Amino acid sequence: MEGKEKKIKITPIEHGTVIDHIKKGQGMKVLRILDLVDREIDSIVSMAMNVNSSMGKKDIVKVEGKELKNEEFDKISLISPNATVNIIRDYEVIKKHRVGLPDFAKGIVRCKNSNCITNQSEPVETEFEVTGEDPVKLRCTYCDREMTGEEISENVI
Ligand code: CTP
Ligand code: ZN
Repeated sequence: MEGKEKKIKITPIEHGTVIDHIKKGQGMKVLRILDLVDREIDSIVSMAMNVNSSMGKKDIVKVEGKELKNEEFDKISLISPNATVNIIRDYEVIKKHRVGLPDFAKGIVRCKNSNCITNQSEPVETEFEVTGEDPVKLRCTYCDREMTGEEISENVI
């Protein structure tokens, strides 16, 4: 019965990517990070929030016709380290990745410190060491500024 309910609520996709096990409440942020908000896109995109799963509630994002790049995995991991990325072809899951936190986040988050060298006119790529996992914590390699929670999700590039 549970399986049947799930199918009715969330339609399977034919080709594309399903980002599953997103931390509850972070689905919108995943859409934003994947640049699927506020612009014209061709893909069919769906999001489900507060879906029941064996480990409590989760959000799910489905994007038809798009397979994610590594850089996008890292971005998602910063806001939801336990998410899985499922690549779907012909309705089958052909690959499942647990996103996993990188040791360093390079060029994917802006530093919150406006005086940081990465925020000056000379372009220097941002770099953060991942210093915490739950919650995720980052420390800027250049200015030591620490960032966590909303600060991170609001500053993903
Ligand atoms: N999915 C989908 N369309 C498909 C196949 C799968 O939208 N054609 C979705 C499923 O609804 C699920 C996710 O992709 O949210 C992963 O599918 P699957 O590996 O079959 O599910 P589980 O075994 O439950 O995954 P996990 O073990 O990662 O929880
Ligand atoms: Zn900095």
